[in-house]
Amino acid sequence: MKKYLLLLIVLVALGVFTACGEKEPTVVENKNGVVSADQWAEYYPDIVDSYKANDENKTVYDHVEEYPMIATVYEGMAFNKFYNAARAHTYSLEDVQATGRPHALANCLTCKSADYTAIVNATGVTAYTQEFDATFAQLEEPISCYNCHGNDVTSLEVTHQYVTNAIGTDSGISTETLTCAQCHVEYYFDKETKAVTLPYNSAEEANPEDILAYFNAMGFADYTNPRTGTQQIKVQHPEFETYTAAGSIHASQFSCADCHMGEATNAKGETYTSHTWTSPLDNPTLVQNNCAACHADLKGFVEGIQEKAETRVYAIGNDLEALTNKLAVAVESGKYTEEELNAIRSLNRDAQFYWDFVFVENSEGAHNSKLTHECLDKAEDLIKQANALFK
Ligand code: HEC
Ligand code: HEC
Ligand code: HEC
Ligand code: HEC
Repeated sequence: MKKYLLLLIVLVALGVFTACGEKEPTVVENKNGVVSADQWAEYYPDIVDSYKANDENKTVYDHVEEYPMIATVYEGMAFNKFYNAARAHTYSLEDVQATGRPHALANCLTCKSADYTAIVNATGVTAYTQEFDATFAQLEEPISCYNCHGNDVTSLEVTHQYVTNAIGTDSGISTETLTCAQCHVEYYFDKETKAVTLPYNSAEEANPEDILAYFNAMGFADYTNPRTGTQQIKVQHPEFETYTAAGSIHASQFSCADCHMGEATNAKGETYTSHTWTSPLDNPTLVQNNCAACHADLKGFVEGIQEKAETRVYAIGNDLEALTNKLAVAVESGKYTEEELNAIRSLNRDAQFYWDFVFVENSEGAHNSKLTHECLDKAEDLIKQANALFK
């Protein structure tokens, strides 16, 4: 009997001990059904601190000033007047309100707020056609835990349904990478539903050539240049497609998180995954531990790749500007048939697509330099073909 009593005491003590050691998180959802970053702070202080540290990444710079050719290349859409480079995830709500580009519908909140993702998941595609201001007023969290974990941060979850719709669940691409693909992708708004849609139906088709074919088959255009009449596609941050497409050296080995979310150590010597999203070049510990064995000078190596890519982006951007102006003169001249103009417009459209695919990709060539130069080669060749058609 005594033996059993002792066992009982031990069991109770054990129970109490585990209950204290692994306190079951008591978190509550906000009105939109999202557990906020602040709610997790008590249980994952290091991760939440590292997440809040994104606030230190404040730099905003204006692309239009740096790349004057885009005033012409993007003429006909709001990007040509105000186009700031990306900064940290935690500023997403602030930045979307301040872009200076007009907002009509709530669908452009898709990659800016955990709350908005939860609203879409709860109400379906009708959330995309809600009015921007009214929806914006309901949001509390910027990009946050929910976007990549749902409300259980012990696992990763793709919460943006359009990624699964496009890529499926058996692509072989890691969930780590797919969580980033929820936003760092090329997308368009469906004509009828205004739903965010990715321009491919499998991971294999997530490459520039197939994406252009997809847009061309549906006759899609984001904007029409008012002087040339060219229907153009505005590419947006295709990091996922660039990194996973053929030519990528590390795609089968590293997920996005492996280079952008390094391991960190707290004061007690415990390790955790840093949630400060940065360039690997700004993370010396990561480079030392995971890259230096093969890259003695990663920074110099990457800068070399970027300089080569950027020099061509600049030069070809200028060629596109010149082509646009030449085409505008041709349209005005009355010396060309509509058919002749359309042939030039078509080449202009495709050239700008390939150039833009590189220009708006945030790694400046580092994610896949082979693909980067293939795109630039195509843009250059298409511009040459277009120029050959002028009388
Ligand atoms: C942009 C996507 C993203 C967001 C937002 C995000 N996480 Fe993570 N989280 C990850 C990835 C990727 C990992 C690493 C998983 C792996 O390596 O398997 C991770 C790992 C974790 C882990 C596992 C423990 C560890 O140290 O690796 C916890 C806990 C966690 N995150 C909590 C949070 C909390 C709390 C928030 C909000 C403050 C948050 N995450 C926001 C992507 C995200
Ligand atoms: C819910 C949308 C969303 C998800 C998910 C997301 N990002 Fe982002 N990310 C953004 C947006 C939007 C920006 C630009 C922020 C701004 O300027 O307001 C950004 C910016 C960045 C930056 C640049 C910060 C800088 O210094 O300029 C890095 C690096 C980054 N993300 C990496 C990642 C990685 C890695 C993942 C996956 C683990 C990921 N992101 C998942 C939306 C997202
Ligand atoms: C093999 C390492 C590696 C992997 C994996 C990787 N990146 Fe990068 N990424 C880089 C490098 C290097 C840069 C250029 C950094 C710089 O210019 O300082 C970069 C730049 C970026 C930037 C711009 C950040 C800035 O500070 O300017 C974003 C955003 C980004 N990557 C997102 C992603 C996403 C999303 C994925 C997965 C689809 C991914 N990366 C996979 C190495 C990697
Ligand atoms: C096992 C060796 C190895 C490791 C470890 C390694 N790399 Fe690489 N990496 C390579 C090789 C080889 C290349 C191709 C070199 C070339 O093109 O000259 C490369 C190329 C790259 C490129 C350029 C990709 C392109 O398309 O041109 C980047 C960026 C990069 N690595 C970043 C990283 C980062 C960040 C880490 C650490 C997280 C890392 N690498 C770890 C071997 C490695």
